[in-house]
Amino acid sequence: MDEIDKAVHILRAGGLVAFPTETVYGLGADARNAAAVQKIFTVKERPLNHPLIVHVAAAEMLEEWASVIPDVAWVLAKAFWPGPLTLVLPKRADVLDVVTGGQQTVGLRIPRHTIALALLRKFGSGVVAPSANKFTHLSPTTAAAVAEELGEEIDLIMDGEACDVGLESTIVDVSTEVPVILRPGMITAKMIEEVLHQKVTRVQQPGRNVRVPGQHILHYAPRTPTEMLPLDLLKQRVQCLSAEALPVAVIVHSANFPELPGVKVLYLPRVALAYAHDLYHCLRSLDHGAYRLLLIETVPQEADWEAIQDRLVKASARL
Ligand code: TXA
Ligand code: MG
Repeated sequence: MDEIDKAVHILRAGGLVAFPTETVYGLGADARNAAAVQKIFTVKERPLNHPLIVHVAAAEMLEEWASVIPDVAWVLAKAFWPGPLTLVLPKRADVLDVVTGGQQTVGLRIPRHTIALALLRKFGSGVVAPSANKFTHLSPTTAAAVAEELGEEIDLIMDGEACDVGLESTIVDVSTEVPVILRPGMITAKMIEEVLHQKVTRVQQPGRNVRVPGQHILHYAPRTPTEMLPLDLLKQRVQCLSAEALPVAVIVHSANFPELPGVKVLYLPRVALAYAHDLYHCLRSLDHGAYRLLLIETVPQEADWEAIQDRLVKASARL
């Protein structure tokens, strides 16, 4: 049996399969099987009221899940699918409550990854897939990271190498008059506005008590305490650290950083797309080092850096 057949077989039997997408690895279950979906929450240790995204193979399948599909949804689907965009739409009555966290909407997306698409096509129905990590941890961007997060607890991990995009999909709620970006991603608000010829709004002010985990302030956090600072302040911060505060790790992208004892310096790319691709992998590898502190250089306040900025704010949040 090939890997795709094996994965389909597991999904049909109510099991869990981790698979690669272009954004991050997902933890998949049959979206029509309540017991299977329930297992995802158990394995991820995720609160039950946080909804899951249903992944499908083709845009026509929207009709199997959404009760109302406004024109903007078709326009966005045509422009960006398969790709890192999730559309939130009013749900059909038969969509399981455990999928939507009891909400009246459902999130849907077609991922752009050969393995994910082959799996979804062969499965023939929706697959719910949150990122394949424990609740609040960093999303995995390699099969090895999935194994580290969930290893023994799931039935199969499909290996599709490192994810192309490296950050979770942009989530747009199109169930309202004006589309709302619930989670920024590498498909930016600007790109969406250009396609729709219409302004979109953004959800602001993340906090602890939100039901969308993408907006939970403690989401996407490395285990190492993390701070984000402009380069000059970051240099000063490092110089002021006492010997007991070492070792620390520093992530910079805009310029060279002085070599100092007890300070590990990592360079990420200057281009947003490449930076996003490497970020989680870099944070995860630093979590393996015994660093006391992780200091990250602030990123440009520009449209293509917005999703990265969002994740870095969350990575450095300590409530
Ligand atoms: O890139 C991605 O979106 C990845 C890959 C695997 O597709 N998935 C992912 O899933 O990031 P997860 O569960 O880690 O994050 C999904 C986000 C959550 O913040 C969830 O609350 C939100 O999507 N979401 C899902 N359905 C929703 C709905 N009906 N209304 C509002 N937000 C929703
Ligand atoms: Mg997640």
